[in-house]
Amino acid sequence: MFTKRLLNCSKSMDVLKTRINLRSEEFVANNEYNKSLNKRIQDILNETQSKRDGDILEKHKARGKLLASERIRLLIDRDTPFFELSSLAAYDQYDNQFPGAGIITGIGLIHGMETVIVANDATVKGGTYVNETIKKHLRAQEIALQNNLPIVYLVDSGGVFLPEQANVYPDKDHFGRIFFNQAKLSAERIPQVAIVMGSCTAGGAYIPAMSDESIIVKGTGSIFLAGPPLVKAAIGEVVTVEELGGAVVHTSISGVVDHLADNDEDALRICRDVFDHFNKNPKQNVDRIEIEEPLYLIDEIYGIIQPSLKKGIDMYEIIARLVDGSKFQEFKANYAQSIITGFARIMGYNIGIVANNGILFSESALKATHFIELCCSRSIPIVFLQNIAGFMVGKEYEHKGIAKDGAKMIQAGANANVPKITIIVGGSYGAGNYAMAGRAYEPNFLFMWPNAKIGVMGGEQASEVLVSIKQKGESSNKNTDMKHEILQRFETESSALYSTSRIWDDGIIDPIITREVLALSISIALNKPFPEPKTGVYRM
Ligand code: COA
Repeated sequence: MFTKRLLNCSKSMDVLKTRINLRSEEFVANNEYNKSLNKRIQDILNETQSKRDGDILEKHKARGKLLASERIRLLIDRDTPFFELSSLAAYDQYDNQFPGAGIITGIGLIHGMETVIVANDATVKGGTYVNETIKKHLRAQEIALQNNLPIVYLVDSGGVFLPEQANVYPDKDHFGRIFFNQAKLSAERIPQVAIVMGSCTAGGAYIPAMSDESIIVKGTGSIFLAGPPLVKAAIGEVVTVEELGGAVVHTSISGVVDHLADNDEDALRICRDVFDHFNKNPKQNVDRIEIEEPLYLIDEIYGIIQPSLKKGIDMYEIIARLVDGSKFQEFKANYAQSIITGFARIMGYNIGIVANNGILFSESALKATHFIELCCSRSIPIVFLQNIAGFMVGKEYEHKGIAKDGAKMIQAGANANVPKITIIVGGSYGAGNYAMAGRAYEPNFLFMWPNAKIGVMGGEQASEVLVSIKQKGESSNKNTDMKHEILQRFETESSALYSTSRIWDDGIIDPIITREVLALSISIALNKPFPEPKTGVYRM
């Protein structure tokens, strides 16, 4: 367990003092290891973004269509960033035939309004949907709902990727959920605008039809429940794409679309004009002061993260590099030190931090519960820094009721009325993941560092447990093989790349941009007014 060291006790707040020796062998080795790990992720990302067949790109451009990324650039306010999410979705699946899962999602500014953008990438299998494409689309809608953000759909898709139909069509969180979500967003008065910039076939036709306002591009945009070949097969009618569901048909005959655009650029301009007439809702008021840089360089984090999670990460050192002025008003500093709680500022925003500093015991769970309640009662967003091996096990702790104390922390986190932003900076194991606002607890955003690991337990423990269950007089050689195999599988399945490919998170981020990511996430979350605090029944 790491202890806090203060630089000084300033008038207003404690300033964290580092104890890192930048020249130590350990720091240098960690630094090198983590930088190369981060570079590997960046290389994969660059490759994913550029991995397109030249002929397909040419065909796309020859139709006068812009690429999905170019469309987003033109849609958002000039020289503002696009906060892209889950860019490595579907990585290492489907023979890597679905880079980014064939869809770009994220948040950008349109006339200063933080807006969710969902853009099909028609250069990836005609913009069709596999399971991860749907997950990414649904997650974008969830973000719009949870944070009260308008949403724009840039539609250019052949609908369901037919060979995967059993994994994308029938279930609750499959293709149909997109339109269910549109209905729910609409009922919440969240503006939705669709621009049809290519194919919009079968169920996909409901995307523009269920949006508040829609735009279609002449010549390339088309909408129909069934395309010409199916129409011919079904009813023997011979019809062209334009006659069946082209831009003119839908803007002048069917009324499915509201605005006719000459080309992609024109459509994006119209969309911006539509936004120009939205009323801008005031944001939730959270105290924000002038930004102060941390006292220490953020890239020193590379030298602090231990390649082996067994060694632990000194979270005071991490917090010192994330928060403004490295100032941290710790709460219950001397009590239950396996969890760190306290107030700080990120880019001027007033926030609460819950960070792991070892295993969770009963008293750590109670301390965190108290702190989460404080943040809820004071309307302060909470940042969870996860590096958790789980709750303490054993007779002594079970008898003391660790399950009911862990339950209180889970209860408090689940019902928190304030935004929760989770960063997995190290391990995320077992029920520790639940108590620390893991994905199931609906944090507004959840990101992983490249070194992060997530799993029900570590590979070594899992191999011990599984071998002990399965072992029935088997030879020890067989056990060793089995352990090795389980270990390997758990290693792969707990990696950040495995997680992000399956959209268990919103993306892997370079640790050195964590401050910016947190500030953006908080700013986005403030679009939804915080409800009144509510709690469930705490088992005492
Ligand atoms: N399911 C599976 N694969 C599909 C697909 C679908 N619905 N739609 C397109 N593809 C594949 C194509 O087979 C092709 O794969 P390949 O690169 O391995 O050869 C790739 O996506 C690109 O399709 P292509 O037709 O060459 O591109 P395009 O830009 O000329 O046309 C579409 C794109 C989407 C307009 C056209 O493919 C189409 O109409 N698809 C069928 C749409 C449909 O009926 N969907 C109903 C399902 S809900």
